[in-house]
This record gives sequence, structure tokens and C-alpha cells, in this order.
Amino acid sequence: MGIAAAVRVLPHRTMRSLFMSLSHRRSLARLAVRSPLTRPVVARFVAGETIEEALTAIAALKQAGMHTTVDVLGESVTSPELAAAAADRYVATLPALASRGLDPNVSVKLTQMGLDIDPEVCRDNVTRIVDAARAVDGFVRFDMEDHARTDATLAIWQEAHESYPKTGVVIQSCLRRSAADIERILAAGGSVRLCKGAYDEPRSVAYLNKSTVDANYAKLMERLLTSGSYHALATHDPRLIARAIEIAERGGIGPDRFEFQMLYGVRRDLQRTLVERGCTVRIYVPYGHEWYPYFMRRLAERPANVGFMIRAILKEEGRRVRGR
Ligand code: FDA
Repeated sequence: MGIAAAVRVLPHRTMRSLFMSLSHRRSLARLAVRSPLTRPVVARFVAGETIEEALTAIAALKQAGMHTTVDVLGESVTSPELAAAAADRYVATLPALASRGLDPNVSVKLTQMGLDIDPEVCRDNVTRIVDAARAVDGFVRFDMEDHARTDATLAIWQEAHESYPKTGVVIQSCLRRSAADIERILAAGGSVRLCKGAYDEPRSVAYLNKSTVDANYAKLMERLLTSGSYHALATHDPRLIARAIEIAERGGIGPDRFEFQMLYGVRRDLQRTLVERGCTVRIYVPYGHEWYPYFMRRLAERPANVGFMIRAILKEEGRRVRGR
């Protein structure tokens, strides 16, 4: 059986686990980053490696009526110096966006800011990014990583929010704790981006069944939409999007009171359709050299993307072994 066919018959959860574990493999990351074969697939999901490339992509999205949030790619850094350098890239990105009339809106992962090395290093880096956002009246969203980082992410968001209200955090409908977390964020006057969750989580803390994750998303989404404050619904799921529009129409909740968010390169047809319908749409635009783990999560979400990628990696590995 060919690789692409094998990918199609493997259960979705097995594929997801496989790609999530590959996302942590630094040796494969080095291989993939070097390979020209992977570039065309990566380019679909990543707006470029340099800020200039990203700015061009963001300007095109603005032209098409979309808002954006920028992810300067990177996560799980291994030294305080790397964490500070990652924060520097955000600090430079915010004024670069503002000076071109683009949304000074960024999405930040705390493991990239040094959370796993030292929470104080992380806090210092976050403070610098929040100050850079404040200087341009920008917005900082704290992405949510796996469940082991949920408490720390919420705590650091809360501190940032107390010093600068234009910050928000992400909640994942796959986690059992999320309804309670949403109540705490609403009580603190915070803004939520609701997503399903991109990490492989254990049954003890997460719903593993996709239909339960979707049902929880629908429940949490209704809570956010009817909360009276502004939140973001991050999904490409047409059924959930239709349901959100229905709730909004029924409740007289206008398009200025919530937004849909989608990933760069995913369901571009749906992105355009929502803009045409008058919805507020924000695209999550990743750029940078360290695209590998982000990219592997996108493969894990969609087995159809995987066949091509596996063939590219194996081809490159074959060449490397033959060349030894
Ligand atoms: P679902 O996975 O059910 O997909 C619905 C449909 O969308 C699919 O049938 C397909 O058509 C399309 N689709 C989805 N993923 C695709 C892909 N990779 N390639 C091609 N088509 C695809 N997660 C997290 O844990 N922490 C976070 O901070 C964030 N942040 C975030 C921001 C934004 C703006 C988005 C849109 C998503 C995230 N996520 C995230 C990722 C999120 O948790 C989830 O893994 C993906 O959005 C996929 O879930 P969907 O809701 O799209 O539904």
C-alpha cells in the first residue's frame, strides 16, 4: 500500500497522535526546514520566513476585507537568550505593522517566551511585548498550549490584562475545565478566543471524542456570544459557524460584537464568504523560520494534507542516507 493510501485508512486519532509526536522531533525539524520539497506545502500555511514577506501577505488580506493577528513562529525555547530574542521579534513586529496601517495585533505562545525555563523570564518578555503593543494601541492574544500550561498561561494573561486591557487569551473546547475558565475570564472582563484545541491531551483532562469536543464548543460559543462582551470564535467548522450566525441573528448581536478567526491558508473560500456576508473575520498569520511544530499541528488536524508531506520527508531522508 502506498503512503498516501495508508494515511487515508489510518484512524484520524492515530494520525493526529503520530504527527503530534513528530512535531517534537528536532532532528526531523532540521530535515524538514532544509528540504526544498516541503516548501510548497509549508507556504500554504505560513506567510513567509521574513517580516517583509508577512507584511505583504497581511496587506493582501486587509485588501480582501480581513483583519489579522500575527504569530512570530517559535515555541519551547531552550534558553533565556532565545526567549528574549523571540520577544524582540514581537517587539519589532508591532510597530512594523502599525507603521503600514496594518492591525498591530499579535498572538504569543508562552513557551516561546521562556515559560518552561523560568516564569520570571517569561513575564519580563511578556511585559516588553505588552509595552510595545500599548505604544501602538495594539492587541496581544495569549495562545493556549497543552493542558500542563493552562494555569500558567491564564495567570500570566491575567497579570498582563490588569496592566493593559487590550489583551486576550485562548480557551480550548477539548478541555473539561474550559466552562469554569470562561466564567473566570468573563468575571475579569477578559476576551476569549475559543478554539477546539490542537494538542494531544489525556482522557483525564480532555474529551477525546470529536463530537463531544464539537458539542462543548457549541455550548461555550453560545455562552461567549451572549455574554455582552467581545470574543473570537476560532474555527473552520461550517456547522459551528452557521450556528454562531444563527445565535447572533436571533440575539441581535451585530458583526461588530464578535469575530470569526481562521488560520492562514485554511478554508480560504469560507473566509471570503464570511467577509461577503458582512461578518468580522480575522486571519491568524504565522511567519518566521521556526515553522515546523506549527506546520505539523496543521497536518495532524487534516490527514488529507499528510500524504504529500510524508513522501517529501522520506525522499529527503533517502537522499541523506544514500549520501552518507
Ligand atoms: P475541525 O478540525 O473539525 O475542522 C473543520 C474543517 O476545517 C475541516 O473539515 C476542514 O475543512 C477544515 N480544516 C481544519 N483544519 C484544517 C487544516 N489544518 N488544513 C486544512 N483544512 C482544515 N489551538 C490551540 O490549541 N491553541 C491555540 O491557541 C489555537 N489558536 C488558534 C487560532 C486560530 C485563529 C484558529 C483558527 C485555530 C487555533 N487553534 C489553536 C487550532 C484549533 O484548536 C484547531 O486545532 C483547528 O482550528 C482545527 O479545528 P476546527 O475548529 O477548524 O475544526
